[in-house]
Amino acid sequence: MLLRKKIQYGRPGSAILDADAAGMRPENLVEVRNLQTHFFTDRGIVKAVDGVSFAVPKGKTIGIVGESGSGKSITARSLMSLIDPPGRIVSGEILLERQDGQIVDIARLDPFGSEIRAIRGADIALIFQEPMAALSPVHTIGNQIIEMIQIHEDLDDKAARDKAIDMLRRVDMPKAEQRIDAYTFELSGGMRQRAMIAMALACRPRLVIADEPTTALDVTTQATILDLLRELQSRDEMSVMFITHDLGVVAEIADEVAVMYLGRVVERGPVDDIFEQPMHPYTRALIRSIPKLGVRGRHRLEAISGMVPHPSNRPQGCPFHDRCPEFMPGVCDRIVPPLEKIGERRDVSCLLHSDVEALKAASEQETTSDE
Ligand SMILES: Nc1ncnc2c1ncn2[C@@H]1O[C@H](COP(=O)(O)OP(=O)(O)O)[C@@H](O)[C@H]1O
Ligand code: SF4
Ligand SMILES: [Mg+2]
Repeated sequence: MLLRKKIQYGRPGSAILDADAAGMRPENLVEVRNLQTHFFTDRGIVKAVDGVSFAVPKGKTIGIVGESGSGKSITARSLMSLIDPPGRIVSGEILLERQDGQIVDIARLDPFGSEIRAIRGADIALIFQEPMAALSPVHTIGNQIIEMIQIHEDLDDKAARDKAIDMLRRVDMPKAEQRIDAYTFELSGGMRQRAMIAMALACRPRLVIADEPTTALDVTTQATILDLLRELQSRDEMSVMFITHDLGVVAEIADEVAVMYLGRVVERGPVDDIFEQPMHPYTRALIRSIPKLGVRGRHRLEAISGMVPHPSNRPQGCPFHDRCPEFMPGVCDRIVPPLEKIGERRDVSCLLHSDVEALKAASEQETTSDE
């Protein structure tokens, strides 16, 4: 079912890169550089992902956080080259180090081609928010997991079935030997979620992308799934990209964080640094909006004022300027802040941390050419 959604054709240029030419850091499994994924609608171009850059370290968890509409899901789907028309990856790089050490630029692959099909599942697997987006209602969950296993591994039916049962056991599916023959309509929401996770993890991908997998679940099932991801991660050296609007979950499970706003990464860094010293006003606002532990009932969340604008209404200058408590008139509404490196694995995109004077001249030019 992952292959159901078909899309555009690959961009020109070679997708297989020489390791030196790619310049990837050896500790990274994936490097996303200036990714742009746009939707060409009747009403204009929606820049859902508008220059996203971040890296996924090997064997670690990166949390991608931001309010609804900030481009998290489209970023995740771009990594699998699963963008529905009228959308497509317009520019940028998605470099992946494959199992054999080869470096591939996913942004340049033909989304219908055999290379990306081999990558989906074997290298990168996606856990959806809604299990039925990945599961078919007309096949048993066992047949779907077995099919996934057999695409990537040379196992006979019996061995693949045993492996599928084993996967279902590991995701705590009750009565796995029987439930393997169940259809989705025979399963509860939590069991469907487990079946989908079993399918995603069946081929031991090097990267699992979990797109708000816990949002629809009760707290106990959420905790089980988070524990399971952690356990599989330490055993298989798997990287996890965990997408959520909840910075509290990120604090619990992530090693690194990338904060997204309106199609861009506005801050990223190791989780402790981000919580101890958030540099971007949006990150600070997200941290203030986390419910405090131990404060029951009366504690009021500090909501972030205003709403994320639609990408077709992107404000001039800094995309956060109309909500920012530290807004500098004449500066923040005129200059687009670049993502600046401010430390080891630490970037921020805010003019409080940029050389504004040096940017002014460049931005004048950029504004003119945008129009
Ligand atoms: N098929 C589509 N056509 C047009 N715009 C889309 C489509 N899918 C998503 N978008 C837009 O892309 C933006 C980012 O969406 P998304 O990545 O789903 O955000 P998030 O996952 O952070 O909530 C949203 O403004 C959304 O309206
Ligand atoms: S650039 Fe200005 S408006 Fe944008 S986050 Fe920084 S201070 Fe706020
Ligand atoms: Mg989403």
